[in-house]
Amino acid sequence: MIYIGSDHAGFELKEFIKEDLSRKGLKYLDIGTDSLKSVDYPDYALKVAEKVKEDKDKNSFGILVCGTGIGMDIAANKVDGIRAALVHDEYTAEVAKAHNNANIITMGGRTTTPTEAARYIDKFMSSQYEDGRHENRISKISSIEKLNI
Ligand code: RB5
Repeated sequence: MIYIGSDHAGFELKEFIKEDLSRKGLKYLDIGTDSLKSVDYPDYALKVAEKVKEDKDKNSFGILVCGTGIGMDIAANKVDGIRAALVHDEYTAEVAKAHNNANIITMGGRTTTPTEAARYIDKFMSSQYEDGRHENRISKISSIEKLNI
């Protein structure tokens, strides 16, 4: 399952992404927002992060879109167990999975075109987590979460 959410600045790109996912026969759950009316991005980051965290299927992931992808990224990463990555080209989309085992990708509706977004999502989905030396680093990220500082 792909959980997708945006604020008003990411709404139009989110709608395009949904059409693209449907065209490709991929299942998604849209948690909002549902219009261009101004909303606060942390509310949507939290909803998608919770869904991703609850879903035990390792192929499930989230997509969050705000104006730049930055606010969504910061907010989603506050949730224990979430590794949200701001992707802005095919390389970052690939290594977000291969090195960081990201479970959410974020993008900017004001910085990323629909065509680019579709390419980045395809790249993320077709990449494999490389494990090995990266697992130790990801364990260290989890240890930071446990410090509660
Ligand atoms: C909304 O204007 C904008 O600040 C928000 O979408 C996002 O870009 C924040 O990081």
